[in-house]
Amino acid sequence: MHQKTEYQPVFTGDQRRKLDEILTRYPNKQAALLPALWMVQDTHGWISQAAMAEVAEVLDLTAAHVEGVATFYTMFHKHPVGEHFIQVCTTSPCNVCGAEDVVAAFLQHTGCDELGATSPDGKFTVLEVECLGACGFATPVLIDDDFIDGVTPDMVPELVARYR
Ligand code: FES
Repeated sequence: MHQKTEYQPVFTGDQRRKLDEILTRYPNKQAALLPALWMVQDTHGWISQAAMAEVAEVLDLTAAHVEGVATFYTMFHKHPVGEHFIQVCTTSPCNVCGAEDVVAAFLQHTGCDELGATSPDGKFTVLEVECLGACGFATPVLIDDDFIDGVTPDMVPELVARYR
């Protein structure tokens, strides 16, 4: 069950000062949209409609513009995800090398019911993604910002334990 909580603004205090410092590196504040969205995701773990509205306000953009950019890039989460975000390449070259079995092992060992769902302990979300640019090293996996290649199903329990 999803509990409705009041939105906590990101761009106050130190975070506002950090954004102001970032803005000095851009020709205008609208150009700082991507770093602003990263700050939101770093703070809340995902980017809600309320967060998009806040970003629009601080950067003098329309909410539709912010939403258009946030939804274009798959690395921005538009719904809550687990503390650790696991991305497994299942594009054809990795698929023929057993990527589906790696995905199944991650789902089993994290306790995630299905792709895109968050585990009951809130720790993990598992997603299949397109080519991670390491086709010769199946199966490549991204856990948060950590790139791990050559993952096989028998490596998964240790990997999950490391991040749990
Ligand atoms: S197809 Fe999997 S990394 Fe390229």
